[in-house]
Amino acid sequence: MPGFAGWPAGGWGRWLRNLKAPSSAPWPAPLPRPTPWHIRKEALLLLDFPLHARRRRRWRAEVGRFYQQAMTRALTQAAETRVQRGLRVWKMYNMGFVVKSRNHCVGFDIHPGSRRTGPLSRRQQHRLVELLEVAFVSHPHFDHLHRGFVQLMLAAGRKVVLPPRVLPRLKHPNIIRAPREYKEPIRIGDIEARCFPGWQRMLSPNSVYVVTLDGHRVLHNGDNTRHGVYFHLSDAGPIDVMLANCWAGFGLWGHLTGARLLITGHEHELSHTVSLRAPFRYTYSKLRRLGLAPADGNPAPPAGPECHILNWGEGIDFRPEP
Ligand SMILES: [Fe+2]
Repeated sequence: MPGFAGWPAGGWGRWLRNLKAPSSAPWPAPLPRPTPWHIRKEALLLLDFPLHARRRRRWRAEVGRFYQQAMTRALTQAAETRVQRGLRVWKMYNMGFVVKSRNHCVGFDIHPGSRRTGPLSRRQQHRLVELLEVAFVSHPHFDHLHRGFVQLMLAAGRKVVLPPRVLPRLKHPNIIRAPREYKEPIRIGDIEARCFPGWQRMLSPNSVYVVTLDGHRVLHNGDNTRHGVYFHLSDAGPIDVMLANCWAGFGLWGHLTGARLLITGHEHELSHTVSLRAPFRYTYSKLRRLGLAPADGNPAPPAGPECHILNWGEGIDFRPEP
């Protein structure tokens, strides 16, 4: 494979820099659709090595640079992209996603990134705030809710949707508390959202959002492991795009949504210790076991949604049937 022949000479720092260079070829733009599944898979599995490692000073610097470059590219693309049909989705840090439709742009679980490797700068966070009308937060854990980013959104007059009991002392007219009853929709202009009451194990309530943007429905499940809520999804109408946590059991309920596009998240959350940090190989093996990974040379799996595994800052289109 171009750019990946043999082990890297000069260490992982150089390998990461090569990975970012267009000449190294595993990341032809735009990603990921033009790239064959098996090439992307090899590239992302190789990326597991430097990202699934213990934290050393040089490692932090190199990974931080890599992350920054990916995010800068995503912020520029998100600002410049005009969506005519369907949706464009960018994967940000962890379970963070930006979703843009013809008339709207919203974020889910936006987190600036790990402090150890260097999160988004204040200026980059402001750029992101400028893009978003609404930020949805699934639950209060440190890798999903970032108080600083919430405050920036509120200060800029943007809406923030919080689960019912999260940050109870934070009062602001632009905070919208998700209703406990999913049948009661949230309306923000002509954006409609429903909040399904999930949980992450016994740890925390976790809102599962279904958000309708210009007629297209996007589901984001945070860290939800309470799968019973998915049996009620049909009440929200058909789902187009699922933003699914890679380890929270989407295989058990994915078929319930009938979604056409599934994008996984929560790989390589760098504040988790290595043993608790999901690498890309975990997601690939899961998709293979579920029969959702396309065979080499076959662009679509035999059944189920079209699945994609994205790295930081990568974007993908959802195009509805004409
Ligand atoms: Fe999480």
